[in-house]
Amino acid sequence: MALGTVTRLQAYLDPLLFLAVAVYGLLLVLLDAFTFQLKTKDLLNRNMMSDKVFGKVWLKLNKRIATSQLETSLPALVASASGTILEVGPGSGSQLPRYDKSKITKIYGVEPNVDLHDALQKTVKQCGLSDIYTIVLCGAEDFQTLASYGIEKGSVDTILSVQVICSVPEPQKTVSGMYELLRPGGQMIIYEHVESHDAVSRIVQGIYNVVWPFPFGGCHLDRPTGKYLMKAGKWSRVELEPKKEEDDWSLFPRVVGRLTKAN
Ligand SMILES: C[S@@+](CC[C@H](N)C(=O)[O-])C[C@H]1O[C@@H](n2cnc3c(N)ncnc32)[C@H](O)[C@@H]1O
Repeated sequence: MALGTVTRLQAYLDPLLFLAVAVYGLLLVLLDAFTFQLKTKDLLNRNMMSDKVFGKVWLKLNKRIATSQLETSLPALVASASGTILEVGPGSGSQLPRYDKSKITKIYGVEPNVDLHDALQKTVKQCGLSDIYTIVLCGAEDFQTLASYGIEKGSVDTILSVQVICSVPEPQKTVSGMYELLRPGGQMIIYEHVESHDAVSRIVQGIYNVVWPFPFGGCHLDRPTGKYLMKAGKWSRVELEPKKEEDDWSLFPRVVGRLTKAN
């Protein structure tokens, strides 16, 4: 078998490891049910169960994933965030140690999964950000709740989105709304896994999508996030990393970089 085919097959098996952790997360949630920390009606609530399983899974995987990001441009991108920052889906706060505090006025962490809030709060404290960090319990698409925190059109200097657009319910609408929240000249920092440009890999992404969203908080492997960003509005600068060779077979190719809103 040609080396390329082996590499491709290996890449297509990658998500199985994550799914094994998902089974572990599901077992922990079921254990909570047996020990009466969950009500029977909660077990029948699909969205709640998905959030609960993802909460367990993410707390197991977050450190490993954050470490793997050290080899990428993400830490430097996060360190360039400035002013009033809207971090969508901060999870347990893996990006927090990467901020340069001297550049920041305020951070809003918009995190809809309440099961991650304790861990997030703990990281906020550890990073010495308690005085400038506010956790907002809603989805990035809930612009009404965001407005109640003063996060309104043109009010944000930097938006940070790290592996979140894959999970929002209405991605194009959410990305366009996020664009509106930025002030002219403001920057959107993006690190998102997206649809493959390779037809076979896209089919495999579609197959995994049958089971993937439930344990991974609504995550889809094949979102065209790059296209959503381009359609969101006018950018004066688009600094996105070029495609890599492994993007042909990877089920997690990424769009990474910074976009600056036109004046
Ligand atoms: C893969 S985790 C990434 C966490 C964090 N950004 C990081 O890099 O460590 C995805 C995060 O997006 C959050 N999320 C899911 N749906 C969301 C939505 N509609 N709005 C904002 N965040 C959302 C999840 O709860 C989770 O914390």
